[in-house]
Amino acid sequence: LEPKVRGTLQFHQDPKGGTNIRGRISGLSPGLHGFHIHALGDTTNGCNSTGPHFNPLKKNHGAPSDNERHAGDLGNIVAGPDGVADISIRDMQIPLTGQHSILGRAVVVHADSDDLGKGGHDLSKTTGNAGARVGCGIIGLQSSV
Ligand code: CU
Ligand code: ZN
Repeated sequence: LEPKVRGTLQFHQDPKGGTNIRGRISGLSPGLHGFHIHALGDTTNGCNSTGPHFNPLKKNHGAPSDNERHAGDLGNIVAGPDGVADISIRDMQIPLTGQHSILGRAVVVHADSDDLGKGGHDLSKTTGNAGARVGCGIIGLQSSV
């Protein structure tokens, strides 16, 4: 059984374009873990209520660097031997304002690695075959201090 996954992430929209995500997640197994924005900010049934990958453009699952990707596809995060992943991601498809805003949606961490659409598995083109949802949180507003 996966130990308790927890952490805090901060999302900042760059006025010049793009969104930066910074933070730390602990309690993971060492290695790669799929990391996505899912469509729904709903955790009434835990992470399973967060819906599919955020996909406003109706594309197939892919790598963050691919043209064919879900907007929510952020690839993998890497946990060290201590189970901690330090996260610093910049992405152009996850704005915090406008029609495709991710505000009110969820960030999800998976038990397994995301194959980035290239694993040849039945689930590769929809979820990256990243396995169970071991941690999630709703993306909300915080005072800018
Ligand atoms: Cu996911
Ligand atoms: Zn996806």
